[in-house]
Formats: sequence, structure tokens, C-alpha cells
Amino acid sequence: MNNLFTGQLVKLTASNPETDPKIMAEWHRDTEFFRLAYGRIAQPWNAKTIQERIEKYGGELNEPIFAIRTLADDKLIGQMGMWIDQPHGDAFTWILIGERDYWGKGYGTDAMRVFMRYAFQEWNLHRLSLRVFGFNKRAIRSYEKCGFLHEGVNRNALQKMGQRWEEVWMGITRGDWERQQMADSR
Ligand SMILES: CC(C)(COP(=O)(O)OP(=O)(O)OC[C@H]1O[C@@H](n2cnc3c(N)ncnc32)[C@H](O)[C@@H]1OP(=O)(O)O)[C@@H](O)C(=O)NCCC(=O)NCCS
Repeated sequence: MNNLFTGQLVKLTASNPETDPKIMAEWHRDTEFFRLAYGRIAQPWNAKTIQERIEKYGGELNEPIFAIRTLADDKLIGQMGMWIDQPHGDAFTWILIGERDYWGKGYGTDAMRVFMRYAFQEWNLHRLSLRVFGFNKRAIRSYEKCGFLHEGVNRNALQKMGQRWEEVWMGITRGDWERQQMADSR
């Protein structure tokens, strides 16, 4: 039986309230990260704000939040979670790799693959959904690699960097994921 929370490059863990919020606050001072990650207006967040958000949202049973750490050296590099719409077996998932040195090296994609296994096997969900900004090509490609399909586009939905952008809706069903697992095991 494989470890539910371990992938090829990363593991999903609880966050350490003593050390993690300070590191996460550093990420949120990087405006490129903030703009990729959040629809809201960019604003530096301190460690207290981050910890309050983790406690507020991560404390809910239907809203698990994980820290993403490297397998190689246990370094905190990101955060991810989901909000479960229980009656429908659907969940909105999100992922943030905050350490820029770990962008584009497969860490986020690996974390999402671990998370999908967790969502479908442990929570028995029927589907996972997400929204991504149209300019975030790296994220869109990463989700495609995980098997998420493009399900729709909200045109002109966002105002960022002085212009309008589309918001892309993507999703993967349990059946899609199971077929992908079968194909990978052949
Ligand atoms: C989005 C994120 C989770 C992706 O994880 P990752 O580990 O960096 O992604 P990967 O390295 O596995 O894959 C990135 C893919 O995007 C491609 N890519 C990168 N920049 C690109 C661009 N400008 N246009 C098109 N493709 C691009 C890469 O070539 C790679 O595809 P490939 O493996 O087919 O070559 C991570 O980068 C991250 O969290 N970034 C900051 C915050 C963020 O954007 N969060 C998502 C909010 S929806």
C-alpha cells in the first residue's frame, strides 16, 4: 500500500504553525506570485494573516489544506487544498507553489497528482474542479498534464495588469482519473 500523501518529488503534510506562516508570508510579498495565485487585489500578507487563514479554512472538515514539502530535503515549497461540495461529490481545488525556484520543475504537477489520488480514493469524490487565470499558461499546462479537461471560459472575467483576461474552468471526473490510472499501469 503506497503512502497516500507521497509522490515522486513531494509530500503533503500538515503545516507547522511555528515556522510555516513566516515562510508563506515571504511568498506573498512576491507580486508575481500573488497575481498568479489570487483574484483579489495584491497586498502583502504577514505571517499572522496567513496563520489565521489556515485556521479559518483548514479547520473545516470540508476544506482540507496541506503544506507541500520536498521529499529530498523536507523544504516547504507550497500549499494546496480543496473546498468540498459534499452533496455533489465535487470539490474546488487550488495549488500554490510559493518558492519560485521550484516553478516549472514538476513539483506542482506531482503535488496535484498526489492530491487527486487523495480526493478520489480517500474522499470518494466524483469530480475535481478548478479555475485558472487565462494568462497562467504554466498552471494550465500543469493541470492538462494531470488530466484536467478544459470545461469552459468566462470571457473578460478578470482585470489584471491593466487589461481584461479570461478565466478558464477545468475539471476531471473520477472516471477520467480511473482510466488514466489504468493506462499508466499498463
Ligand atoms: C502552477 C503550478 C502549480 C505548476 O506546477 P509546476 O510544477 O511549476 O508545473 P510543471 O513544471 O510540472 O509544468 C509546467 C508546464 O508548463 C509549461 N509552461 C511553463 N511556462 C509556460 C508558458 N508561458 N506557456 C506555455 N507553457 C508553459 C512547461 O513547459 C511545463 O510543461 P511541459 O512539462 O509539457 O514542458 C506552479 O508553477 C505554481 O504554483 N505557480 C505559482 C502559483 C500559481 O500559478 N498557482 C496556480 C494558480 S491557478
